Amino acid sequence: MNRRRLLQAATAATALAGTVRASRAAEDQKPHFPRDFLWGTSTSAYQIEGRGDRSADCIWDSFCRLPGTIRDGSNGDIACDDYHRFLEDIALLAGAGLKAYRFSIQWPRVLPEGAGEIAQSGLDFYSRLADALLEAGIEPWACLYHWDLPQALQDRGGWLERSIADRFVDYATLMAGRLGDRITRWAMFNEPNVHAIIGHGLGEHAPGLRGRQNMFAAMHHQNLAQGRALAALRQAGGGKLQLGTVLSLQPVLPAEGLDANTEAARMWDAVWNRAYLDPLFHGSYPERLAADLAPLLRPDDLAAISQPIDFLGINYYSRMHQKADPDGLVGSNWGALPTGTKTTGMGWSIEPDGLYEMLIELRDRYGNPAMFVTENGASFHDEVGPSGRVEDGERIAFLRDHLAACHRALAEGVNLHGYFVWTILDNFEWAFGYTQHFGLVQVDRDTLKRVPKASYDWFAAVARSGVAD
Ligand code: FCB
Repeated sequence: MNRRRLLQAATAATALAGTVRASRAAEDQKPHFPRDFLWGTSTSAYQIEGRGDRSADCIWDSFCRLPGTIRDGSNGDIACDDYHRFLEDIALLAGAGLKAYRFSIQWPRVLPEGAGEIAQSGLDFYSRLADALLEAGIEPWACLYHWDLPQALQDRGGWLERSIADRFVDYATLMAGRLGDRITRWAMFNEPNVHAIIGHGLGEHAPGLRGRQNMFAAMHHQNLAQGRALAALRQAGGGKLQLGTVLSLQPVLPAEGLDANTEAARMWDAVWNRAYLDPLFHGSYPERLAADLAPLLRPDDLAAISQPIDFLGINYYSRMHQKADPDGLVGSNWGALPTGTKTTGMGWSIEPDGLYEMLIELRDRYGNPAMFVTENGASFHDEVGPSGRVEDGERIAFLRDHLAACHRALAEGVNLHGYFVWTILDNFEWAFGYTQHFGLVQVDRDTLKRVPKASYDWFAAVARSGVAD
């Protein structure tokens, strides 16, 4: 080889090495998750199942019948008809290589009156669901309560009554007894805070109650039910069950950074986050809430609520920016978002750093429990692209940015073990009816045909490779 060609070859080799180095560096910057990191999706019964052969109402059936409660006047009677199509839906989960699926059990589907007589068809449904998931290599994660109380129990006061805690323990014990041989993971509640605040304080969710007192009663009685059910299942499960709960956790900031909004933000943080975390992990309620809780608290309640858990599920969507408002539920109301903040279709601010902050806080203030992000996702106005399917780049970017936040927290020692997208199917989004779409899979409202979106393929690649690219 003459000198010139030698030089050319050497230059080419150096360039190639440079490219390899650069792409390795780029590769190293991509969030690589641990091999055993669990990838899944979450759903809830009322949002996807449809009524099927359920004979008794839940509080959402009744709430949807009230005029003006649901944006498009719809309800969950059909939803995604997952009650009949669950095998098809499990095939979608398996097709994405997911290893876990969190669903909720609808209390009145198995106990129409909330207690007493069992509806065998309901039990059979969840039993078949668990079997089919296991067969597909997907770990079933059962959540016992995602806001759909039997109407029969609501008629007797629902979460306002202390005795509801006993009914919940009976129901939880029944379910774990029947399915605990196949379902190991049990979440007691989904977002009891949202249920107390939006459903019992602001009246925008079922059961449509309003007022500070109602909110505090629902808060405390859910905490009590949760603690007692954890203890009962701990005993019944003989060490075989993994028990936990799921909270909506959102860092709260004073709107516009104003001092005048500081107390409103702290109070909102107390009712949204601390009222659930503090009694569970520290055995106490926040000082700010003492006067409201005093009439509800009995001497042993905090000991009953403060139970060990095997995992904490974190549902994260955004930070909250609260302003002082004397007419607000606890003197607080939603305030202006920081200028320039992007929002999702729900109008929720897109702030992935808030997820990182919350995880770090759980590490530092709550003993770094074993954690899973059990909901994170976004609704956007989904456009069908030239390929004939939804090309949802915004959703992909949202998920990617939130996974980067998880990865950062993981690198800083947060005890995080998995991530579940909300959600697999476009579904009934509570007071928004079918106007908001969170799914990785589009569901045609007329035919119920499922069509995976681009985000489905993207998340499948993440779940398979463990790299959130
Ligand atoms: C959460 C709920 C879930 C879904 C998402 C968008 O608060 O747990 O059911 O509605 O929000």
